[in-house]
Amino acid sequence: MAEGYDFDVLVIGAGPGGYVAAIRAAQLGLKTACVESRETLGGTCLNVGCIPSKALLHASELFEEAAHGTLAKWGVKPGNVELDLGQMHATRLEAVKGLTQGIEFLFKKNKVEWLKGRASFESADTVKVGDRNVRAKNIVIATGSSVTPLPGITIDQERIVDSTGALELPEVPKRMVVIGGGVIGLELGSVWRRLGAQITVVEFLDQILPGFDGDVRKEASKIFKKQGFEFRLSTKVTKAERKGDTVTLAIEPAAGGAAETIEADVVLVSIGRKPNTDGLALDKAGLQTNQRGQIETDHRFKTKVAGVWAIGDVIPGPMLAHKAEDEGIAVAENIAGQTGIVNEEVIPSVVYTMPEIAGVGLTEEEARKSGDVKVGKFPMLANSRAKTNREPDGFVKVIADAKTDRVLGVWIIASVAGTMIGEAALAMEFGATSEDIAYTCHAHPTHEEALKEAAMAVQGKPIHI
Ligand code: FAD
Ligand code: NAI
Repeated sequence: MAEGYDFDVLVIGAGPGGYVAAIRAAQLGLKTACVESRETLGGTCLNVGCIPSKALLHASELFEEAAHGTLAKWGVKPGNVELDLGQMHATRLEAVKGLTQGIEFLFKKNKVEWLKGRASFESADTVKVGDRNVRAKNIVIATGSSVTPLPGITIDQERIVDSTGALELPEVPKRMVVIGGGVIGLELGSVWRRLGAQITVVEFLDQILPGFDGDVRKEASKIFKKQGFEFRLSTKVTKAERKGDTVTLAIEPAAGGAAETIEADVVLVSIGRKPNTDGLALDKAGLQTNQRGQIETDHRFKTKVAGVWAIGDVIPGPMLAHKAEDEGIAVAENIAGQTGIVNEEVIPSVVYTMPEIAGVGLTEEEARKSGDVKVGKFPMLANSRAKTNREPDGFVKVIADAKTDRVLGVWIIASVAGTMIGEAALAMEFGATSEDIAYTCHAHPTHEEALKEAAMAVQGKPIHI
């Protein structure tokens, strides 16, 4: 270890970015510590994000299949289906406990020291954790993000909740208003809808799911409406007031106009997330945030201050766990003198609703801006496995460069879109053409055959439509 330092690498934050960076740095022979202020490791993702939300999505999907006749259609008659919400929450917590303890085990195994407490900079190479000043040759900021507050609305985690509160509701609300038709609103809205809530989504823009391909946004909206979601698009919430167990919301057209009120038992605020830099004393390290509150880095995840690096939700780019993890590996490799790279153009994104919604690369709208494209589409209704499983909703869309045939983007709505998108990401990482995918033998009967057919459709020659 370098002289005069306590550690070669000090990581601030033990989310998917930070804990992965710490483990990789230790694997590479660097003396590493990770500071985390939470009681458990794993960050937002493991404690109050990806994992508990997917536990509830899985559980509520099972409930809906049993309660609403899907299982009966297959000859499985579960009898009188009852919801045991307490048990559902217990299983969610068990999943979180198992995985967060798993990170603790990995820290011990790899000799990463966990410094418990909140970190703040004293200088570019020294961080204060509790009463202790820790000096490290390299410091990685991986402090993640937290909920963006909505001015005028106070989150009480009972009736007006953010995603953390929405994971822990002790009973199913009758009426739930979701502010923001993005990923969290649709995933957690789906959970409570399946368990019996009536969901109204108030979205500022004229469509849900910003950032997704236009066709996907339209189709997803139709599917969610069919499931019972009500959308109030181009609408903003100006006030939310709790009286007893009821919340009254004032809403009005986004462009201005006549206001109206709606009532809810629970309101979920899910209008995005903001980087965590409060209390870090970045100025003492010589750093500032940009206008969006993010810490800027170069492609190696170096900030403008030598020895200080940053990764994950706190830097620009999509706020996704797998992006943070990959940056964690890359930053550790760069610190160790290797070449750590993340291909920012091939980061898949998945919404874990039913059906799932996934994409990687450019949307059709983005691709058309940069040149001529060919698009192939294949409906899940024509895929034998999806049809057999009674999962007809959705499609696969492959966008390729018109001249080179190189795949620029893939968008999928399908029950297992989150699994299918991995193949598309791998193909794009290897610079595949649509023809490469079309001529790859896909197992039958699988949902993945729809990707092959969509690739064939780019050439205008799919078989099953
Ligand atoms: P975080 O996971 O936010 O971790 C940062 C950690 O740093 C935190 O534990 C925090 O306590 C700690 N910290 C902050 N400041 C300090 C300090 N000064 N000192 C010490 N510790 C500090 N992404 C997906 O890819 N897939 C999903 O399915 C998914 N589902 C989600 C569901 C929900 C409800 C939410 C809210 C998010 C979801 N995300 C999902 C996003 C994902 O959680 C984040 O992209 C990911 O956690 C970012 O990782 P990170 O390491 O950058 O930060
Ligand atoms: P989001 O950015 O996905 O969606 C927020 C939505 O709120 C947008 O549609 C936006 O137009 C709308 N909005 C903004 N201000 C508004 C206002 N005042 N009134 C009404 N609508 C308003 O953000 P969300 O859903 O909060 O999620 C945050 C992030 O967490 C995501 O961007 C994603 O990176 C991550 N996440 C990822 C998941 C996954 O990968 N499956 C699951 C959950 C979260």
